[in-house]
Amino acid sequence: MGAIGRTERTERTEKTERTKRDGDPRILMTPSTQYADLDALLPRLEAIPTLSAETLEAEHTAVLGRKSGVLTAALKALATLPVEERKRYGAAVNQLKARFEAAFAARTAAIETERRHREAAGVDLSMPGRRRWVGAEHPVTKVVDEIVGIFRELGFAVATGPEVETEWYNFLALNFPPDHPAMDMHDTLYLDAPPAEGEPGGRLLLRTHTSPVQIRTMLASPPPVRVVIPGMVYRNDAIDASHLPAFSQIEGLAVDEGISFVDLKATLNHFAHRFFSPTTTTRFRPSFFPFTEPSAEMDVECQLCHGSGCPACKGTGWMEILGCGMVHEAVLENVNLDPEKYTGWAFGMGPHRIALLRYGVPDIRLLLGGDMRFLESVGRPGGTENGTAR
Ligand code: PHE
Repeated sequence: MGAIGRTERTERTEKTERTKRDGDPRILMTPSTQYADLDALLPRLEAIPTLSAETLEAEHTAVLGRKSGVLTAALKALATLPVEERKRYGAAVNQLKARFEAAFAARTAAIETERRHREAAGVDLSMPGRRRWVGAEHPVTKVVDEIVGIFRELGFAVATGPEVETEWYNFLALNFPPDHPAMDMHDTLYLDAPPAEGEPGGRLLLRTHTSPVQIRTMLASPPPVRVVIPGMVYRNDAIDASHLPAFSQIEGLAVDEGISFVDLKATLNHFAHRFFSPTTTTRFRPSFFPFTEPSAEMDVECQLCHGSGCPACKGTGWMEILGCGMVHEAVLENVNLDPEKYTGWAFGMGPHRIALLRYGVPDIRLLLGGDMRFLESVGRPGGTENGTAR
């Protein structure tokens, strides 16, 4: 029974299809080949002005291509249609084809014009893009900020002063005798201009150290004084691997009642442990500065060989990082402080030199050169990661 039923159904279906075919031939034709849905092509026509050169070509092939273009196929199918249909449908296909052709031509022309404009403006789209520049702090700036930060934690304020000074602030108030060799033209850069009105005297010069700001600070505010003084200083020196005519210093000054050499040593040892490492050893060697008495130089254990001796520390195992001492009585008197009541200590160090130690840089001139390869290597561990330039 099942088999008979199947046969009957099949016959019925075939009959229906025959009837349909005879009545309206379109019903059995696949619309996409014989009667392409022309309305469905309109959004594609409208999209043509937005196409790029590459997608434009692909779209041209897809619509008007000789072999597989949608409209080409529709035109070919016209031959199979009854005369009336052929006229009506054929006119619609031809009209749409003309619109597509015009749109493709217009877009091709527009792309060509854009290309010529870009060429005239010198824009080469095939050039690889530039990576984003991520800046890094200069190693000397980093060292200065770090040193200032460590002293700030100990209650020191930051003070600054002018880079053009008078002989009085730079030398005489600091107890340099008037015939001291540092005041010689060979060592100090003098300006060819008279000092400003009301400034205590002598010739104008580019300060040779940040110590004149000790004088300015003590004149400006009574003890207790605790300041660090970062800034540039200038000397009449030739440039070589370890000397610059312009370099940075950080001065430190503490003045109060009852301050002793113990405070100086304890503070500077604390600084060395914070800045280098908690186990860094230090030593103080007697020295001389006109404005401190007693005076010392502080060495830290060589950061490269840790004391065993290497070329960087000339085999000594030590590296000198600063000069220091107790503020000289004569200096206190020059700023009208009573040395019986007040005592103080001071130090001066060079962040450029310290940056060399910290980053193992062999030549101080690299710190001025602006060579990106060097700056990247010390600016950020790992160099060019994080999308750095080039
Ligand atoms: N001003 C000294 C120099 O430039 C350093 C120094 C500062 C020494 C303060 C002692 C106290 O060499």
